[in-house]
Amino acid sequence: MAKIVHGMGSPHVPSIGAAIDHHKEAEEYWKPFFDGIEPVRDWHKNNLPDTIILVYNDHASTFSLQTIPTFALGLADEFEPADEGYGPRPVPVVKGDPELAWHLANVLVSDEGFDLTLCNELDVDHGLTVPLSIAYNRPDAWPVKVIPLAVNMVQAPQPSVKRCYALGKAIARAVASFPGERNVAVWGTGGMSHQLQGERAGLLNVEYDAQFIEDLVNNPDSLEGLTYTELLRETGSEGVELAMWMIMRGALPLEVQEQYRFMHRPVSNTSYGVTILKNGEL
Ligand code: DHB
Ligand code: FE
Repeated sequence: MAKIVHGMGSPHVPSIGAAIDHHKEAEEYWKPFFDGIEPVRDWHKNNLPDTIILVYNDHASTFSLQTIPTFALGLADEFEPADEGYGPRPVPVVKGDPELAWHLANVLVSDEGFDLTLCNELDVDHGLTVPLSIAYNRPDAWPVKVIPLAVNMVQAPQPSVKRCYALGKAIARAVASFPGERNVAVWGTGGMSHQLQGERAGLLNVEYDAQFIEDLVNNPDSLEGLTYTELLRETGSEGVELAMWMIMRGALPLEVQEQYRFMHRPVSNTSYGVTILKNGEL
């Protein structure tokens, strides 16, 4: 039997990856952040799933404006860290789970009506590797397999929050029908409020972010109608990445047990917030 055991929501700020890669954790700027995520790392040490379905957005590293898949699933045996302009991060290659990934593709595309782009080759950028580093620090090899699910967050029109939430629910059904044994986690990355460009560059909206986490954990249905107009207004042009947390939340039952929550700002240009949710039905 396969089951979804936990979910996590976390931003994927690239400078967190750089701080880890360059051993800056003890520096004055970084210490409060890394102290705050210590419990995240402790929790993950004792709660390793077999496979993470890792929902993230590519930032024009693998895809460009030439081809913009709304949802793209990684089916390969492994995924190389992408060169984001200053060389790939010095992190292990990400190992895939093709057997489960093809099952997800079959169910989600043919039965559930989600027209995923299928990727047999996919280099993964900070959107995917930074959350792995937040959870697992600097291992020689990642301790889990990863199925990348890339969502277009960089170019309007993005998939609606409602569609993202529905995809999460479809993922839960697809995992439940997998004939093999797997403990599966689903992570949603990106957000929280941040805007990297234009007149409102530097925008943070900590109150909105705090309420978003609260609603996500305890009343996710109330977020289903959230629009990109509201997300843009309240969380900035890159804060819209929060929509991907709704895929994670949709994959878990309404009943969850929150294991840890931590907020800290600023982290680079981002208001950081993390929540770990255990499936409350297991
Ligand atoms: C930052 C955050 C992101 O989510 C991203 O993709 C790039 C940069 C930042 O805060 O610097
Ligand atoms: Fe991002």
